[in-house]
Amino acid sequence: MRVLVVGSGGREHALAWALAASPLLTKLWCAPGNPGIASVAETVPIGALDISALVAFARANAIDLVVPGPEAPLVAGLADACAEAGIACAGPTAAAARLEGEKSFTKEIATAAGIPTARYACFDDAASARAYCRRHGAPLVVKADGLAAGKGVVVAETVAEAEAAVSAFMEEGRLGAAGSVVLIEERLSGPEVSLFALCDGEHAVPLGAATDHKRAHEGDRGPNTGGMGAVAPAPALTPALAEAAFARIVRPALAEMARRGTPFRGILFAGLMLTPDGPKLIEFNVRFGDPECQSLLPLLSSDLLAALFAACDGELGDFDLRWHPGASVAVVLAARGYPEAPETGTEIRGLDRAAALPGARIFQSGTRLADGKLVAAGGRVLTVTARGADLEEARARAYAAARAIDWPGGFYRRDIGGPPLL
Ligand code: AMP
Ligand code: GLY
Repeated sequence: MRVLVVGSGGREHALAWALAASPLLTKLWCAPGNPGIASVAETVPIGALDISALVAFARANAIDLVVPGPEAPLVAGLADACAEAGIACAGPTAAAARLEGEKSFTKEIATAAGIPTARYACFDDAASARAYCRRHGAPLVVKADGLAAGKGVVVAETVAEAEAAVSAFMEEGRLGAAGSVVLIEERLSGPEVSLFALCDGEHAVPLGAATDHKRAHEGDRGPNTGGMGAVAPAPALTPALAEAAFARIVRPALAEMARRGTPFRGILFAGLMLTPDGPKLIEFNVRFGDPECQSLLPLLSSDLLAALFAACDGELGDFDLRWHPGASVAVVLAARGYPEAPETGTEIRGLDRAAALPGARIFQSGTRLADGKLVAAGGRVLTVTARGADLEEARARAYAAARAIDWPGGFYRRDIGGPPLL
């Protein structure tokens, strides 16, 4: 099989690495990729949002399967364009990707399917939204309806904060069109878990669960980020809770999407809060998480390529994925200044030495080559992962590898998955 991965981050590096191990693979490409991905796939200089160029490339190279990493190309119709060209795509159509692209749509599906989620109201004018905040009182969660690259949610402790978020999103245009509609939700509490399901439109197969660490700094302080580290399996998610989440959240959502004639194929990411009343849905995403993917794929022992193909063919009914025992930890190394103003261009050394340590594997995100040197080219730059017999061993190994990397321009949290390790 000839496979094209779309994207350029650590998640796509992990996907490409896992696909490269498949006995079914003939050749692997990645567009646009990064220097790390170039060690397992041929990189192609086409942007992840250039859908017509991606499909033309896939046609010209007789690609059998397109594997999209990020959500934006899916929301923009990559899977639809592949379908028109007769190419399999392991991701949802634009109609099904609304589950991530429009938070109000997810709420509509949740209501129709009886999925437990936070109570909410939806507004397209700021004055009514502010009035609702004053009527309800804090705490409240204010969310932009559209895609906002992780910047569209404010958990407000006071009514003033909630009103300020409404103004920033709806009147000051801080998020552009994504903020013209807002949702205001009740605040839920409990441990958060990222749960993944591989879906074929009808069936859902568990694809693992991980705990993300979203704040930039240790002790869950500092600004929200795309994710500074992940541990898998998610410690808080017992098998019973995972089954409850599939029964009450994942399968009802799939059934509702199919009933509407927009079946969901691909990776469904349920952001859950494990509340005292059971798992509740915070949001759906229509792709793997980053860095959750980097923590989960090293635990997968089944062939990812065969699984993605079965998802495209509607054949997940009897499919079962196998996993290595033990745990996995992913620690993100970010450029100093991330997320506000990451400093790029700083040189990174010692990756080979770090990757040779027991259980360690390094995925690259924001990197590029400059005069033969590897330099930082984004906010999140590397994900250092390690597998171990248990969480403690995986953490010790991941941090040993992180310390072996010589990159004064970067930083990482030392408390991914437990108390800070020196
Ligand atoms: P999102 O960008 O939708 O992933 O939301 C970012 C973060 O906001 C989530 O990971 C949660 O920690 C938090 N959040 C979102 N909705 C709620 C809610 N209803 N109650 C409490 N926290 C929430
Ligand atoms: N790490 C969270 C996400 O990928 O959205």
